[in-house]
Amino acid sequence: MTNVNQWLPLVRRPRRLRRSQAIRDLVRETVLLPNRLVLPQFIMEGDDTAQAIDAMPGRYRMTIDRTIAECKEAMTLGVQSFALFPLVSESLKTNDGRQALNSDNLVCRSIHAIKEACPGACVITDVALDPYSNVGHDGIVSPQGTVLNDETVEVLAKMAVVQAKAGADIVAPSDMMDGRVKAIRAALDESGFVEVGILSYTAKYASSFYGPFRQALESAPVDAPNVPKDKKTYQMDPANSREAIAEAMLDEAEGADMIMVKPGLPYLDIIHLLRSQTTLPIAAYHVSGEYAMVKAAAKLGWLDGEACMRESLVALARAGANVIFTYAALDYARSWRESFA
Ligand code: PBG
Repeated sequence: MTNVNQWLPLVRRPRRLRRSQAIRDLVRETVLLPNRLVLPQFIMEGDDTAQAIDAMPGRYRMTIDRTIAECKEAMTLGVQSFALFPLVSESLKTNDGRQALNSDNLVCRSIHAIKEACPGACVITDVALDPYSNVGHDGIVSPQGTVLNDETVEVLAKMAVVQAKAGADIVAPSDMMDGRVKAIRAALDESGFVEVGILSYTAKYASSFYGPFRQALESAPVDAPNVPKDKKTYQMDPANSREAIAEAMLDEAEGADMIMVKPGLPYLDIIHLLRSQTTLPIAAYHVSGEYAMVKAAAKLGWLDGEACMRESLVALARAGANVIFTYAALDYARSWRESFA
C-alpha cells in the first residue's frame, strides 16, 4: 500500500480536517461558551446548609448563604445566569399557591441576596404554582379536578410582578397555561417593569424526565381524589411537534423575549424546528432526569460522565439552542477552563 499508484483516487478526504487537535479546533462548527449556560439552583430555608439530592449527584438544596457562595464561584467560571427554584414548607402550601405572592418569600429573599452579592448576575425566576401548591400542580385545581386556566393566569401575573419587584432580571413561566405570557407582559408593564424579560417555557412536554426535580422540591402531584395524577392537560404530548410551532407563534405574539424547549436531548428535533421558525433566542432545558441518567451510568462505571455531559450540551447547541439550562453548568465551565490550562 506504500505504492503511490495504489492510492484510492479520491479528490475529497474528509479525514484531512480531523488529523490533529489544532485542525479539528479550527473547523469546529459549534463552540459552547460557559456564558451560554444557566445554572438551576434549589433553595431552602436555614443557614449554612446543603442537602444532597439523591437522584442528582453533585447538586444540592442550599440555604441562601450557600447559594450566594455558589453564584460567586460560578461567576468566576463564566456562568453568570441562575434559575431559582424554592423548596417550600408544606405548611405554606395552598391550592392557590398564595405564598408565591408574599414579597418576603424564599425566592424574593434569594433574588435580593444574589443581586447584592453578584450585581452582574442574571437572575431568572420560575413562574408556576407547583412549589407552592398543596396538590403539586402548576395551576389552581378545581373541586372537580380541573386545572383552571384563567384563574391561574391571574395569580401568575401577580407572581411575576412580585419577583420583578424583588429584582428578577427575567421571569420564566413554566406552567403552560394559555395566555400567560400576554398577561404577565401586561402586568409587568403596568407596574413599571418594562425592562424585565420573559423567557417562556414554550414547548414544555409532559415528560417523565422531571422525576428528580420533583423529588428535590417535593412538588410532585399528590395522590388524592380529584387531583390529576399527571400534567397532561397542560404540558405537551411528547408525540407532537407541529403543536410546538403553534405554541411558539403564540408566545412570540404575546411578547415572549425568549422561548424554551424542555426536556433537551429527546427533543433536539423540536429545537431545530423552532430555530427555523422564529428569530427569538431559544433556550433548551437539559432536565433533571437527563442529568441523572448520565450521573447514574458514570457511577456504575458504564460511561465517562464528564465527557457524556459535555457531548450532551454541545449537541443541544448544535441543534439550535442559544441558551442551555443545565445542572452540569459548573462542571462544564471547569472543564472548559482546564482545556486551556
Ligand atoms: C415546574 C417545573 C418542572 C421543572 C422545571 N419547572 C417540573 C414539572 O413541570 O413538573 C423540571 C426541571 C427538571 O426536571 O430539571 N413548573
